[in-house]
Amino acid sequence: MYIAPFKIEEWMNKYEAGAKYDLTTTCIKPLSVNELKVIACEERNITTSIYDTPLGYGDITGSIRLKHAIQALYENQKIENITVTHGAIGANQLVFLSLLEKGDEVVSIVPTYQQHYSVPESIGANVKLYFLKEENNWLPDLEELEKIISTKTKLLCLNNPNNPTGAVIPDEMLQQIVQIAEKNDVWILSDEVYRGLNLYGNAYSKSISDIYPKGISVGSMSKTYSLPGLRVGWVCARKDLIDEINHQRQYNTISVSVLDDFYASIALENHSKIEERNLKILTEGLKILKNWTENEPLIKCIYPQGGTTTLVKYIKPISSKELCKNLLEKTGVAILPGEVFEMEGYLRIGICAENLQKSLNLFSKFLSEIQ
Ligand SMILES: Cc1ncc(COP(=O)(O)O)c(C=O)c1O
Repeated sequence: MYIAPFKIEEWMNKYEAGAKYDLTTTCIKPLSVNELKVIACEERNITTSIYDTPLGYGDITGSIRLKHAIQALYENQKIENITVTHGAIGANQLVFLSLLEKGDEVVSIVPTYQQHYSVPESIGANVKLYFLKEENNWLPDLEELEKIISTKTKLLCLNNPNNPTGAVIPDEMLQQIVQIAEKNDVWILSDEVYRGLNLYGNAYSKSISDIYPKGISVGSMSKTYSLPGLRVGWVCARKDLIDEINHQRQYNTISVSVLDDFYASIALENHSKIEERNLKILTEGLKILKNWTENEPLIKCIYPQGGTTTLVKYIKPISSKELCKNLLEKTGVAILPGEVFEMEGYLRIGICAENLQKSLNLFSKFLSEIQ
């Protein structure tokens, strides 16, 4: 089965290891087990109970303890509406495999995680891309969206908060998107891996599965909870879709590791402490970003409202790939070319990276020297 190269992964595999200052990251300083122990105030219990746990397959679709902890992140979900997956990438994949067939129409809001259009394309779906625009603060224009979605559309894919732009769809706008979908009987897959990281107001936006019966929410331990190495994600959706996903899931997941399930449960039971830590890091990153862009005339930025990244426009006659390659070679600073998001002329910068200030200073010097 043909599938397009995953541009961001190919770029990172090639260049990330050589970076001295890595601004490509979307994960906020991943936690160690020792740090998790301190956060959970469970110095002894964590180690003793996990050491005695048999390393079998565990509960196939996720332990009840983990599902309860996931359920607590939502307003209207029951245990039967949740299944646990290998990260959000496994969750998205299972949604596509369960819902889509050749010829189905999918609308994907871009820029986004490439999985949201390349996997449907590989299944043979007719994928329409709807491009977000900078002049709309990277938010969808609902009149335009309404023109693209019709009763022929089966699935609308969005990512909220958005990677790479950092835009957060306001709850009222999300309701309006739901109305458009409902009118046309369309499923909405909302990749919510950065939910809980809003930089203004309530850190948690509404979840699509809480406000729309055909809403499918994907979550994960990787971003908001700083545990990408656990490889735990989940889907929240209507029970009949979860049943279908579990049917597909038997062929590619069996279960997630009992160790991952255990640590994910502990982290989610203490999620507010992790969010507090992470929002502090992001708020500091945003301050540095704002300060930098205000004094950098070669960069234009719509400031992120949530999540861990921002997409900036640069004013120099060079391709985004060439710029990133040269920047890395000359300064050791790694950022991502907009081209990997189908957004030539832009760059993605992670605002949660260590040495952000220093990296941006090096980047400014490099930019000023480009002819
Ligand atoms: C929007 C989005 N979805 C999914 C993923 C994959 O996340 P996970 O590590 O949970 O598989 C990423 C990772 O960067 C992402 O940014």
